[in-house]
Amino acid sequence: MTTRVGILISGGGSNMVALARDMTGDHPGRARLVISNDPGAGGLLKANALKIPTAVVDHRDFPGNREEFEAALHAILEEARIEVVALAGFMRILTPAFTARWAGRMVNIHPSLLPKYRGLHTHQRALDAGEVEHGCTVHEVTADLDDGPILGQARMAVRPGDTAQMLADRLLPLEHQLYPQVLRRFLAGNRAPLMLDAV
Ligand code: GRF
Repeated sequence: MTTRVGILISGGGSNMVALARDMTGDHPGRARLVISNDPGAGGLLKANALKIPTAVVDHRDFPGNREEFEAALHAILEEARIEVVALAGFMRILTPAFTARWAGRMVNIHPSLLPKYRGLHTHQRALDAGEVEHGCTVHEVTADLDDGPILGQARMAVRPGDTAQMLADRLLPLEHQLYPQVLRRFLAGNRAPLMLDAV
């Protein structure tokens, strides 16, 4: 029996594709559902192309009511009998009630070497701080933003003249390497941090 994985996205969905493509053969999980909070997310078309069922829960239909938005999300996840949730560029902050419901069963990828640079604009903040290395982190999701136990990190050098866009472009392929490997281990019960170094 494979674990039924739901992937939550808001945008292009390249990390979702990397995860879904990896979930074949002897992989302990399968991508059973992709949900976006944005009906225009490019990742929805990519999920369709991969023949993964999709759903949209538009947060704008729930103005000022995060609980109802999350109740709708949760209902769809339950309906699809999702067991583990992977956030992949999902740009909504989740309430402690929702993270508690999925405790130990929800992971996220964040474009910084956590605990540094939680939240947004991570690449620019790393540059502004004069960092010589940068990277991405896969972690378990807890009530605190970008703060759950670290499951894996990929690091890379910051080069002279790098811009935030250059860092983002160079980091994304590392995210695509790291996240599938970590999810595979996580579903197999291995929560020891995986550390990847790119030169
Ligand atoms: C990635 O950098 C991810 O870490 C993030 O937003 C980006 C999403 O890209 N927070 P994609 O939608 O997976 O292509």
